[in-house]
Amino acid sequence: MTTTSPPFEKLVLATHNAGKLREIAALIAPFGIKALSAGDLGVDEPEETETTFVGNALLKGRASAAATGLPALADDSGIEVMALDGAPGVYTANWAELIPGGPRDFYRAMAAVEEALLKTGSTDRRARFVCVLALVMPDGDERVFEGEVWGTLASTPRGTRGFGFDPVFIPNGHTLTFGEMEPALKHAMSHRADAFAKFVAAILS
Ligand code: IMP
Repeated sequence: MTTTSPPFEKLVLATHNAGKLREIAALIAPFGIKALSAGDLGVDEPEETETTFVGNALLKGRASAAATGLPALADDSGIEVMALDGAPGVYTANWAELIPGGPRDFYRAMAAVEEALLKTGSTDRRARFVCVLALVMPDGDERVFEGEVWGTLASTPRGTRGFGFDPVFIPNGHTLTFGEMEPALKHAMSHRADAFAKFVAAILS
């Protein structure tokens, strides 16, 4: 049977990251789904112990669905730099921590990536953002949706919009970094928007 409305009215967004929350809430708003945040519902953030985006997204989604009894949508994402064999990848957030588990400073992480790139001697500055969204239903049903956006890395951060690695990421076909762009333009092309479009297609079919 084909439906034109989502199969649920409420969803818990299984992330404590303010930037991701803002972006997913904006993406979900037009579908009439009420998005609650895991943090506001008192769900603790589980440790990301898996080694893949899919593994960590499922881990976060399962924790929120189990704690709230609601469908949960979790995001695991990061940036892969080609000349660094895909690093920081699934460990993107860790590169921002001076002490494991300590406060995150993404300007530090962007500088560390630039330093690692210089060390390789490579002129290949290609990178991609990856996003995996996991939808976990309280009955245990699970779906994953993967998105990506390709670009190159600016050598110094530019712009104060967005979050994380946005100030160094220049999407292909553009000259501005995600940190300089209008949020709506980023949302139209980002890895999160790509994964989200697949999620929407699946829940509305
Ligand atoms: P995690 O998914 O919580 O492990 O965090 C992944 C990290 O990747 C985030 O903290 C960001 O630094 C980075 N990241 C993921 N998506 C984006 C994005 O859209 N813009 C900038 N950085 C991002």
